[in-house]
Amino acid sequence: MKHYKIAAIPADGIGPEVIAAGLQALDALARRDGGFALDVTQFDWGSERYRQTGAMMPADGTAQLRAFDAIFFGAVGAPDVPDHITLWGLRLPICQGFDQYANVRPTRILPGIVSPLANIGPGDLDWVIVRENSEGEYSGHGGRAHKGLPEEVGTEVAIFTRVGVTRIMRYAFQLAQSRPRKFLTVVTKSNAQRFGMVMWDEIAAEVAQDFPDVTWDKMLVDAMTVRMVKNPRSLDTIVATNLHADILSDLAGALAGSLGVAPTANIDPERRYPSMFEPIHGSAFDITGKGIANPVATFWTAAQMLDHLGEPAAAQRMMRAVEKVCAESVMTPDVGGTATTQEVTDAVCEAIRAEN
Ligand code: NAI
Ligand code: MG
Repeated sequence: MKHYKIAAIPADGIGPEVIAAGLQALDALARRDGGFALDVTQFDWGSERYRQTGAMMPADGTAQLRAFDAIFFGAVGAPDVPDHITLWGLRLPICQGFDQYANVRPTRILPGIVSPLANIGPGDLDWVIVRENSEGEYSGHGGRAHKGLPEEVGTEVAIFTRVGVTRIMRYAFQLAQSRPRKFLTVVTKSNAQRFGMVMWDEIAAEVAQDFPDVTWDKMLVDAMTVRMVKNPRSLDTIVATNLHADILSDLAGALAGSLGVAPTANIDPERRYPSMFEPIHGSAFDITGKGIANPVATFWTAAQMLDHLGEPAAAQRMMRAVEKVCAESVMTPDVGGTATTQEVTDAVCEAIRAEN
């Protein structure tokens, strides 16, 4: 039997609620499958640790995670700690330290879930957004001078490297090639941003030559929001910068019904380091502790994790169980249901156990 070492970092807000749900479903899958086991180690890193020690995680945090096969992550963010501290104190050091440069965000409308778009249902919206996850606008390059004085300046420099853009473009073309439509949309803002974004377009054209069977087109990011809303069927695989894809994928999640169903995987495609799997949403202070957080995004990212670990059959079983439970309208309030997190989780575990 294969054993996978999983580091669970539930962290803040609804993170612990959805990670607990995800671990229950993963446990049901491992028992059902019989061919693998997950050895889960829990880490209590996050804002509470910050309040007590001044750091979100220990100084050797990433070194501790290094030996794991994957990281299963909840959310960071607390009302009383500034967001840039929580994000840069935990999530980004893991993404950047482990060079998880491909952030993969599938979106589809699950059966039973109603999209805010009229006349759009399951099958009409089936996208994967690939977000460059290591550089661009979130490279951390910038600074502030003359703090608090009238002449204060703040810079936030977007860094695009040929290596960084080429590798994410190759990843996106490969992913597009693996999907039935073999169609990629490259998003930039190369009219107004005429250096890094023009290089991005040029590299897309270069990489495209190695993928003659993939059709591709280009969009400016502002027009892309319109196309996503007006013509969702015209899109399949999408690649964009760190900032652009961050925004577009929240829109995608909302169009698919709720942020609570949107998953993401932070992948090191070369497998030098553990990859990290998490729901897209944050710590959702407004519903923390109420027992109504939607666990579907976390189930879906758990399926991405199983795929990455080399357990595609278990991943597909997870998604079949989630789709069955959604189709039966066992859903949390964010997608129009009345079920609790635990009720949805129990239903998914039962569907996993009951499947032939
Ligand atoms: P959020 O994603 O936490 O919440 C936005 C809205 O969506 C809220 O109304 C929330 O109740 C709802 N929502 C989110 N997840 C849900 C779920 N699973 N089930 C039902 N409803 C759900 O984003 P917000 O409010 O902008 O940020 C809150 C905190 O989370 C901030 O501190 C922010 O920095 C942090 N954050 C952390 C992220 C991460 O850890 N990757 C990502 C986004 C935000
Ligand atoms: Mg975001």
